[in-house]
Amino acid sequence: MSMSEAGNIKRYTVTSALPYANGPKHIGHLAGAYIPADVYVRFLRLLQKNVVFVCGSDEHGTAIPNQALKEGTTSQAIIDKYHVLIRDCLYQLGISFDIYHRTSEAIHHQTSQEFFLTLFNKGLLTEVTSEQYFDDEVKMFLADRYIVGTCPRCGNPNAYGDQCERCGSTLSPSELINPHSTLSGKAPVLRSTKHWYLPLQDYEPWLREWILKSHEKDWKTNVYGQCKSWIDSGLLPRAMTRDLDWGIKVPLPDAEGKVLYVWFDAPIGYISATRALFSELSEGKKKYSSPQSDFGKVKPDDWKKYWQDPDTKLVHFVGKDNIVFHCIIFPVMLHASEQYILPDNVPANEFMNLEGDKMSTSRGWSIEMHEYIESFPDKPDVLRYALLTNLPETKDSEFTWKDFQSKNNNELVAIFGNFVNRALVLTQKYFDNKVPARGKLSDVDVAVAKAVKEFPGRIGAAIEGYRFREATALMMDLSRTGNKYLAETEPWKIAKTDMERVGTILNLALQISANLAVLTEPFLPFSSRKLKNMLQLKDLLWSDTGSVDLLPDGHALGQSSLLFEKIEDSIIEDQIRKLNEKKMSVEGNTPPGEAPVAKPVKPLKPEVTIDDFSKLDIRIGKVIAAEKMEKSDKLLKLTVNSGLDTRTILSGIAKHFTPEEMVGQQVTFIANLAPRKMMGIESQGMILSAEDKDGKLKLLQPNGEVEPGANVS
Ligand code: 2FM
Ligand code: ZN
Repeated sequence: MSMSEAGNIKRYTVTSALPYANGPKHIGHLAGAYIPADVYVRFLRLLQKNVVFVCGSDEHGTAIPNQALKEGTTSQAIIDKYHVLIRDCLYQLGISFDIYHRTSEAIHHQTSQEFFLTLFNKGLLTEVTSEQYFDDEVKMFLADRYIVGTCPRCGNPNAYGDQCERCGSTLSPSELINPHSTLSGKAPVLRSTKHWYLPLQDYEPWLREWILKSHEKDWKTNVYGQCKSWIDSGLLPRAMTRDLDWGIKVPLPDAEGKVLYVWFDAPIGYISATRALFSELSEGKKKYSSPQSDFGKVKPDDWKKYWQDPDTKLVHFVGKDNIVFHCIIFPVMLHASEQYILPDNVPANEFMNLEGDKMSTSRGWSIEMHEYIESFPDKPDVLRYALLTNLPETKDSEFTWKDFQSKNNNELVAIFGNFVNRALVLTQKYFDNKVPARGKLSDVDVAVAKAVKEFPGRIGAAIEGYRFREATALMMDLSRTGNKYLAETEPWKIAKTDMERVGTILNLALQISANLAVLTEPFLPFSSRKLKNMLQLKDLLWSDTGSVDLLPDGHALGQSSLLFEKIEDSIIEDQIRKLNEKKMSVEGNTPPGEAPVAKPVKPLKPEVTIDDFSKLDIRIGKVIAAEKMEKSDKLLKLTVNSGLDTRTILSGIAKHFTPEEMVGQQVTFIANLAPRKMMGIESQGMILSAEDKDGKLKLLQPNGEVEPGANVS
């Protein structure tokens, strides 16, 4: 049973994934873990729920020293720079954290070390000495991402120590063929080192009970499915410590040079942030936070209620790459400690693509939060709306600048803004800017009042069910209802003949506007504030809405102005141009018209003999059917006429080709590769392809039709 079903929710702890302070964050991150969380929290506050909303910078892990190396500076300088940048952007876009903390703070180091010692002292961590790769040149043990080699499964020469991005296999560094260090380019050597492991496999029965049984109904299918496949594929012990000189020291005497694994300390960051918040509040100061909630008089220890009292509902908002950490590893830590509550839900989102391609800061294909704010400083709500209407809630979604423009011009301006503006301008014109009284109600008035009554419940239910797209659409439907009401009743036409009727219509239109001022607050907080000022409406609660008596007769309205402005084509074209230019400059390419710079060619692999080569049976086949593999965004399942047989080949090309594009294609494939099972299906071969300069895969094909089964020699 989930905590909410258990009844009695006394308070909420809501977290958004701590962003790595290793660079700016883009709007895909916003859509994943920040905007949905903010809508949820603002809604809870309007219900007068006791809620704490925490976040902060994740300042450890190899991502930080890695970036320092790239920028030629120190890790400390990196986190100081990006912590401030990310924090300020999030607040400017209206994300209303009660605290935005950072994991480099002393209180976080202390909380994480205490947590580690709790598990250690209970005897729950296993000490294991193993051989790990060490770079003799830079004198460092190599984290998985610092080791690159050939994938044993698909032959990709650039597979990472933890994953092959071509075939999607999860790897360990020791499986790579010809591994080399990305730091020195040298082959690493094996050295023995001691680490402390969390034996996840021991918790499998508990996880099955807690996730697979108790949360089958209330967790999103994408989240539940990922958890199930992790559990079903067999959990392994996971090292909670690392050999690294950047991070939180392992609080044991024999752990010189070792730090806590970043995924051990980062989620504890939520707890430290809450601790820091209550410690600041109890001292009457708030160092990091913006003043969103009123917690009244508090004691430093009050943070415990938000993490230890079972009547607290804990919700983690994250992107899909964080699911396993928030649904399996962190909960195991919390459960094992016997001190903390568990998450009630982890409503993770999928990814948001950008203009037809994966969003990526490193590849320059992104809109960073600060870039948006620089271009549109007075339009935080337009971005919020464009993202909310397009959240990757059940599958990956896509942001395009054209859609952004259309959401602004055709919805925010044409529906919401237009409706409110007409109601306000007509009231100024005919009623001296004061709310007119209602006369006798006609059927259309009664119907609109009835419709208004239903919106708060419907919007609220969608938010509580983590269906933020639906909630946003309903919010816009309320504006649409108002707009339609004015279009049908046409008060501007009857002003000459029946002023009482005009008064009734405008009264209702203003009441709908007042409802909108409150109900839009979670989604469009800046516009909601502006509208409240125009209506001179005091801060109301969610429970006040649904009524057409929010504004008394004769109530004096404030000064009105347009809530939203049209965005012209030229502005959008500029943004698209900027995006393309950024990508080109990141790739080292030059803009059109100048000579392009070639992409560096990968180094030659070690020599092979003709005998080695002739062991491979390379053939041409024809794809006769193709489909996407369920639960994989990388793999296509191809049915290939190989000339010898009809076989299934799984290929990591789903991001580059649709199944429809593949049917009928000639493919070059390795016919005698040992069959390999992936996601329960056996792959009988490997399709050959090559990357173009944009990283897109192109199939290797003969330059004319040949019979299936033809040998490549
Ligand atoms: O994926 C990331 O960006 C991580 N820094 C998220 C951490 S979430 C939490 F555990 F702190
Ligand atoms: Zn591979």
